[in-house]
Amino acid sequence: GGAVAFAATIAATMASAQTIGFSQVGSEGDWRPAFSANMQESAKEFGIDLKFANAQGKQEEQLRAVRAFIAQGVDAIIVAPVVVTGWDQVLREAKEAEIPVFLVDRDVDVEDKTLYVTRISADFNLEGKLAGAWLATESKGTCKIVELQGTTGSAPAIERKKGFEAVISQFPAMEIVATQSGDFTTEGGKKVMEAFIKSTNNLDGICASFAHNDNMQLGAIQAMKEAGLKPGTDVQMVSVDYVPAIKDALAAGEANASVELRSAVGGFIYPIILDYLKSPTELDKWIVIPSDLHTAN
Ligand code: AHR
Repeated sequence: GGAVAFAATIAATMASAQTIGFSQVGSEGDWRPAFSANMQESAKEFGIDLKFANAQGKQEEQLRAVRAFIAQGVDAIIVAPVVVTGWDQVLREAKEAEIPVFLVDRDVDVEDKTLYVTRISADFNLEGKLAGAWLATESKGTCKIVELQGTTGSAPAIERKKGFEAVISQFPAMEIVATQSGDFTTEGGKKVMEAFIKSTNNLDGICASFAHNDNMQLGAIQAMKEAGLKPGTDVQMVSVDYVPAIKDALAAGEANASVELRSAVGGFIYPIILDYLKSPTELDKWIVIPSDLHTAN
């Protein structure tokens, strides 16, 4: 009786379990590993057999992973694309194999939008706008800014810059005086800030540091402290992600604001994919996850 019913339930679950391949950017910073962990844990809760591939920041690795998923005949493919370009061909291959592709987090730049079902992500442009609007208010519209950019060619670096600039361009006395990529890492942010400290005579006249993610800002904070400067006091520090380490920096007064990028979003993403697999219907091309700005108090 019971044992047979139990075995039948397991068999049914196994038969219906979906296999999903997830090609993840890498493990840069603190936000990305938190997002990966949540996607993996959450997959278990939904009974998904998740094939997780970490591309270590390399697009070639992602292309290889997606092709491997296609060869394995997975039910769906999730991609968080390192950069926006170079996706058309591999996405066409997935489409030919009739495997639906879902973008999470980062965006792609493809002409044929039918190559993926939808993108489920935060609005990076809005994040840049929130950071810019906060700084405009804080500085009363007068501020010389240094900018630490994320990975060159990645959607968050492109969009956060655009959104931030859209706001500060409304204020004639707000200006980005130096900008460089720190590749979304703490070490990258530290190196870039060290260079800025040199090129601006110890950040003379600089009112703010806008970093495309918290880890670069944390590196910048280290560089500034080593140079005897006071991040959070002499220079306003605004960034994106709201990871635990920046919360500590906010509490310590060494950072001033961070726009939250939610990492525990598997519980939001998987139901959309599972529903689609059950009954494919056309979805909006972008399903937006909200962003909020946090300050120390
Ligand atoms: O794509 C989102 C960005 O990627 C995060 O803000 C950053 O921390 C990560 O590297």
